[in-house]
Amino acid sequence: MSASLSPTPGPSTPWPVTAHWGDEGLEVGGVPVDRLAREFGTPLLVLDAEHLRRRCRELRTAFPRVYFAAKALTARRLLRLVNAEGLRVLAASGGELDACLRAGIPPSHIALHGNCKGDPEIDAAIGAGVGLLVCDHLEEIARADAVARRLGRRQDVLVRVVPGVAAGAHPSLVTGTPASKFGLPIDSGAATAGVVAAVEAAGLRFRGLHAHIGSQVLDAAPFLASVDALTAFAGELARRHGVETEILDIGGGFGITYLDEDPLDLACTGSALLERLRRAAAREGIPVPLLAVEPGRAIVGGAGVTLYRVGAVKVAADGRRLAAVDGGMSDNPRPMLYGAQHAVAPVVPARPGEASMTTVVGRHCESGDVIAEAVPLGAELVGQVLVAAATGAYCYSLSSNYNRTPRPAVVAVHGSAAQLWLRRETHDDLDRLEVTEPAATVA
Ligand SMILES: Cc1ncc(COP(=O)(O)O)c(C=O)c1O
Repeated sequence: MSASLSPTPGPSTPWPVTAHWGDEGLEVGGVPVDRLAREFGTPLLVLDAEHLRRRCRELRTAFPRVYFAAKALTARRLLRLVNAEGLRVLAASGGELDACLRAGIPPSHIALHGNCKGDPEIDAAIGAGVGLLVCDHLEEIARADAVARRLGRRQDVLVRVVPGVAAGAHPSLVTGTPASKFGLPIDSGAATAGVVAAVEAAGLRFRGLHAHIGSQVLDAAPFLASVDALTAFAGELARRHGVETEILDIGGGFGITYLDEDPLDLACTGSALLERLRRAAAREGIPVPLLAVEPGRAIVGGAGVTLYRVGAVKVAADGRRLAAVDGGMSDNPRPMLYGAQHAVAPVVPARPGEASMTTVVGRHCESGDVIAEAVPLGAELVGQVLVAAATGAYCYSLSSNYNRTPRPAVVAVHGSAAQLWLRRETHDDLDRLEVTEPAATVA
């Protein structure tokens, strides 16, 4: 992996929009990040609030309805920020739903999806009055219907279908193929059965179709193909069953820059998709459905950088220079899960001629806990702060307490000020699940 030594904002750099070099090194939101490391400790996730707002506005302009996929990063202030910018929120579990409700997101602005929702989750969602429940399979449609009738509700639902379009940066991120564990395949009769069941259920109101083809997609073509497949299916539903698809939710997956990739252009993609949908609907002779999208990474991914402090430097037997930092796979498992790469740079650049290629490794008990290869770093490294770019999405939310490591703090920066959004976990936090009273045994 190559590291960017001079973060400059721009469409194809992984750095947040306000990132630039000041007298004290890298600044984000007008705050020198070295100062943030001293004040809040490391590892530290720093979010550029301006970046978040701009991405929300770009998406709101490009698409008629936008849900923020809370799985990318769930923090109360973040959920409030995106909702204040006119976005709704997509929850993937009872836990994310609970976070949305505690954040004060109006239930009508929340959608709940998931391929294995438990009865308590369905109960909580319908009980709270969520705007949309995304039903994954036939049995769930029956369960949701039963819950809604018991609660005296009529719940708006989308039926998740598999459009048969493959996309995504890693096999684990591809969800739209026939092998997908999510939703009902449109070409098998199962999706039609699901929609018909939802239409006939007295406790449910069928509003439309839902799909998600994959994540970190850098090309608009698979989304266009998904719109084609879904609209053709909506046409079939209209002709054969007289069912109207009011909403077409094509999911998230819009790709961002991690190293130097061209990100998906949201404005162009939005207008291409809307045009394609209009044409496909005309071809099928159906009213144009409302197009909804559910990005997570595209909103919060590039807004975040993670700060680490170098604790040790050594030369490995193979001659590589290693710098070990105070975080790693516990705060960012993406490199280990997906072979993902993040640009890494020193917060204060090395003096010219002083840098040597260094592998930045994490602190955890796994040899694969490598943060970045071949980063040009200076001679005096121990105690220095390094910054990893584009860590806002699927880092904190996929984090763990491996090696009993407390999760980092999360701060947002804006207008030369920092605001703590999530405090750093403590050893007491990690201890809170221990049962200390005499152990109850099960015979
Ligand atoms: C159904 C659904 N919607 C939206 C998303 C968000 O994807 P991304 O963060 O890549 O935009 C995901 C991610 O897994 C998803 O499964």
